[in-house]
Amino acid sequence: MIKPKKLSIFQGKSFLAEKDFTKEELEYLIDFSIHLKDLKKRGIPHRYLEGKNIALLFEKTSTRTRSAFTTAAIDLGAHPEFLGSSDIQLGKKESVEDTAKVLGSMFDGIEFRGFSQENVEALARYSGVPVWNGLTDEWHPTQMIADFMTIKENFGHLDGLTLTYMGDGRNNVANSLLMTGAILGVNIHICTPKSLFPDKKLIEEAQTIAEKTGSHVFVTDDTAQGVKHSNVIYTDVWVSMGEEKKFAERVELLQPYQVNMELLRKTGTLAEDLIVLHCLPAFHDKNTIYGQNIYKEFGISEMEITDEVFRSKYGHQFEEAENRMHSIKAVMAATLGNLFIPKA
Ligand code: CP
Ligand code: NVA
Repeated sequence: MIKPKKLSIFQGKSFLAEKDFTKEELEYLIDFSIHLKDLKKRGIPHRYLEGKNIALLFEKTSTRTRSAFTTAAIDLGAHPEFLGSSDIQLGKKESVEDTAKVLGSMFDGIEFRGFSQENVEALARYSGVPVWNGLTDEWHPTQMIADFMTIKENFGHLDGLTLTYMGDGRNNVANSLLMTGAILGVNIHICTPKSLFPDKKLIEEAQTIAEKTGSHVFVTDDTAQGVKHSNVIYTDVWVSMGEEKKFAERVELLQPYQVNMELLRKTGTLAEDLIVLHCLPAFHDKNTIYGQNIYKEFGISEMEITDEVFRSKYGHQFEEAENRMHSIKAVMAATLGNLFIPKA
């Protein structure tokens, strides 16, 4: 049972990057997410943000993060207001600092999805209210709570598990998995071509944390070594938002890192417990404009994950997507909520 005393450590804090939180704090957010999911499923109200106003700033597009923040805020009794990049002055006619001061005087909490990590940090510094990072070029921290929540729901625990991330080793999701796994004590393998290895400083930072938590951090370009004994195979798009010019280069580089049945067999855990996660959106068929263009240009109908794996019993990406809502609710409620949770 979640104890209110423990949750008070989050009060008024922003959620900008995983590295700002301890193992215990991240575990609390994961467990609180599972608790809120249970309340939602049982129809028990949990209006911890009654009367609050939440600003949702989106410089980049989104399906899950926007929907999750919107529905989570409404379930919590708050009013969410979407402010897209073409709706407000931010960046074009007004600085981040001035925007933060204005929004902070009217809203009780701010979500930001955009390019620069510095901007989300500046919003937190100048707004005076909790700011939640809904993805930047560097980190995707709310995604991590949903991901490790999904893993915990499937395995019943996180201890001793190994997660292998396949694909672009330098993107926001890879960075976040590396850091969060190290903090939580989950073994993290990043399997990617040498030219896409994570930043050296980040690997060292993760390794230093991993030494304390007992996690094993392993970065390799060898797919067989990378997936061996893995319990979770994770992948993400080969080209992230804002890098659309890199399709040709990434298709060439990342095809050997595709998550397909042959790769799953190399884990050696296929007959036991193996799950596949993807933060989504995914290119697993030709049913998108990008998918069609890639097929015309490069002759491939699937990119980072095959349709077979995506639709197989191993794929848990839609549970993971639903968990974005429960976990974002936990992050907002813990940092901004008027929490009263009776002791068990
Ligand atoms: N996983 C994720 O962040 O999805 P969206 O880009 O749709 O928000
Ligand atoms: N790495 C991806 C994640 C999408 C949720 C991107 O930044 O586009």
